[in-house]
Amino acid sequence: MVVAVFDSGFGGLSLLYEAMKKLEGCDFIYFADNENAPYGTKSIDEIKALSIDAVDFLASKADIVVIACNTATSAAVSDLREKFNIPIIGMEPAVNLGKDADGDILVIATPATIKGVKLNELLKKSNLNNKTHLLPMPKLVEFAQNMEFNSPNVKEYIKNQISKFNSKNISLLVLGCTHFNYFKDSFIDLMPNSKIVDGVDGTIRQIKRKIDELNSKGKNLDTKLLYYSSKKQKDINLITPFLSRLDKMAKI
Ligand code: DGL
Repeated sequence: MVVAVFDSGFGGLSLLYEAMKKLEGCDFIYFADNENAPYGTKSIDEIKALSIDAVDFLASKADIVVIACNTATSAAVSDLREKFNIPIIGMEPAVNLGKDADGDILVIATPATIKGVKLNELLKKSNLNNKTHLLPMPKLVEFAQNMEFNSPNVKEYIKNQISKFNSKNISLLVLGCTHFNYFKDSFIDLMPNSKIVDGVDGTIRQIKRKIDELNSKGKNLDTKLLYYSSKKQKDINLITPFLSRLDKMAKI
């Protein structure tokens, strides 16, 4: 079974990292559209067009395509499902985990996800509007793409943004962008009383269900993981520092 994972850049590796541990017997393709990252500051039409190109590239190579990008899911998942005849799993900020939160919920994501109809409908549907705050943090995507994970600039940026809220009132912080998982240590430092969640586990459960449903051996690759990038970073060794960082984040 070949699972293709796509993101605008290196953020989706946070999904791939867990998927490789949890989805036994699967082969993986990772496609990073580094040439066009970030997506989160682009228009919906631009994000749609880029997502269509990415899935077009992956559809013939895999059995399932996972959009490990909240931004691309928000802007394009319906069009992608209409256009391509392959199971497509999207990713959304895990606001549903806020149902039992005592205090407020803070969702951080890209500007496109925050403004997107999908997130706002999700909040309405789950009746969480009145206790949810939304905060775009686009610079974190740039920091992650540049492998700048815990520099003073990163810490300063996160601190400034978070200080717009009284962190004592926030019981749940939802990481609504896959690039943000590289900064868990800073969030824990700055918001020690908040629970931090992301959409990775929920998405992996959906992939599992789809694999069971397909219930066939599917395609096979010669190697466990193939890495493609739309930009110069085509060497698979390039993802090693990102996976090491995720390893560190998984242990805190
Ligand atoms: N990693 C992506 C997400 O989950 C978006 C990053 C970007 O702006 O390209 O939303």
